[in-house]
Amino acid sequence: MDVDRSMLAVARRHAPTQEWLHGDLTHLDSLGLETGFDLALAAGNVIPLLAPGTEPEVVRQLAAVLRPGGLLITGMGLDAEHLPLPEPTVALTEFDHWCTDAGLTLRERFATWAGDPYRPGDGYAVSVHARSTA
Ligand SMILES: C[S@@+](CC[C@H](N)C(=O)[O-])C[C@H]1O[C@@H](n2cnc3c(N)ncnc32)[C@H](O)[C@@H]1O
Repeated sequence: MDVDRSMLAVARRHAPTQEWLHGDLTHLDSLGLETGFDLALAAGNVIPLLAPGTEPEVVRQLAAVLRPGGLLITGMGLDAEHLPLPEPTVALTEFDHWCTDAGLTLRERFATWAGDPYRPGDGYAVSVHARSTA
């Protein structure tokens, strides 16, 4: 899913048999999707590139489509070297607060998609949050 049709065109070229939806993650609930997903993936700096101020709502919307125990996996740059932006827009502490408010708990954090261990100060984080089972 993407709000930018040109990005969807690229995605469709790479994976033509996959279903690709045009929509705004801030209003994910308006798409009438089924809920109870095992996993939601926001790779490639989706969170830092959201419109400023919409991030907590997007995290809430993504958490809401997960089943209890389902995972939200995100990848985001934390410095200019890992972002298509002059400076970071989101800090991990802030992101973790949004997740906690959305009923998500941090399970694991890596520095790369290959699973290298994350250390404070690293420029990239892959975070695995789980929806509460309560
Ligand atoms: C750096 S791109 C990553 C694209 C793709 N996920 C990937 O990993 O290659 C970030 C994407 O987030 C999309 N985006 C930003 N805000 C959005 C929103 N509110 N709803 C849906 N997509 C959004 C942008 O259009 C952009 O295509």
